[in-house]
Amino acid sequence: MSIELTFSGPYALVTLNRPEALNALQFAMIEALADALDRVANSDARALIVTGAGLKSFCAGADIKELMDRDLMSQRRGAQLGQRTFAKLAALPIPSVAVLHGYAFGGGLELAMACTFRIATEKARMGLPEIKLGLIPGYGGTQRLPRLIGEARANEMVMSGRTIDATEAERWGLVNRIVQAGDPVELGKSFMAEFIGYSKCASLFAREAVQRGMATTLAEGLDIEADLSTLAYRTADAAEGMRAFIEKRTPEFKDG
Ligand code: CAA
Repeated sequence: MSIELTFSGPYALVTLNRPEALNALQFAMIEALADALDRVANSDARALIVTGAGLKSFCAGADIKELMDRDLMSQRRGAQLGQRTFAKLAALPIPSVAVLHGYAFGGGLELAMACTFRIATEKARMGLPEIKLGLIPGYGGTQRLPRLIGEARANEMVMSGRTIDATEAERWGLVNRIVQAGDPVELGKSFMAEFIGYSKCASLFAREAVQRGMATTLAEGLDIEADLSTLAYRTADAAEGMRAFIEKRTPEFKDG
């Protein structure tokens, strides 16, 4: 299988497993990824780690051989499949991290951008090279990239197809952190450990407030925050968290 889903303790692990083609995404892989994400959403996992198999590449983008000679309607359906699947990733009820240890190009970087977080080793190289093929990104890149790094830098990457390294990506805010090279799954686990000990409800509401706020005006975003923070306040976990603070003990969250 080119998409592998496994579970390890509180973590769901999705591996793009097509190293002979640098994990380039065929449409069947995107469909399999969508199925895997449904399973993750219905599991007890507290975080998702996305990695690419092999030493060289997280994912080199859409499979260019498969992209060739398609009629326009098929191409549009393909773009919508990628967008829908990556939107499903962004909307998971748990946070996700893409571990970039090599190439993350085109659709591969778009996949990573749909995760909550991205971490990169020093060897990581990122870019949206579609323009070099006479194309533009089709799986969300033109929309998520400016939201992450701003319009001017997004235009620079999308319009030049330039490859950036981990240092530049961290400086621009495209990756959260540069980490020492190692087993990608372990790197993902150790990064996510900081986020998985809290109430799942509070974690979800926090992420949702940020995510929905980014897609709307400040005034509407503040309304969303008022609603979601009130909802968080109503949970048993909030009562437990505040009580534990007063009683000077560690809270026991139950995700409710
Ligand atoms: N699609 C299909 N096959 C790919 C691929 C891709 N995107 N990227 C790499 N491969 C294949 C190569 O064809 C090669 O296979 P063969 O051995 O059968 O020839 C194998 O993977 C190894 O690749 P290279 O020999 O090219 O490895 P390299 O180390 O010399 O170069 C690279 C690595 C710079 C990433 C180079 O492979 C490359 O430029 N790949 C294409 C990157 C790209 O343009 N991505 C965007 C795709 S379009 C897209 O993603 C649209 C969208 O928005 C959804």
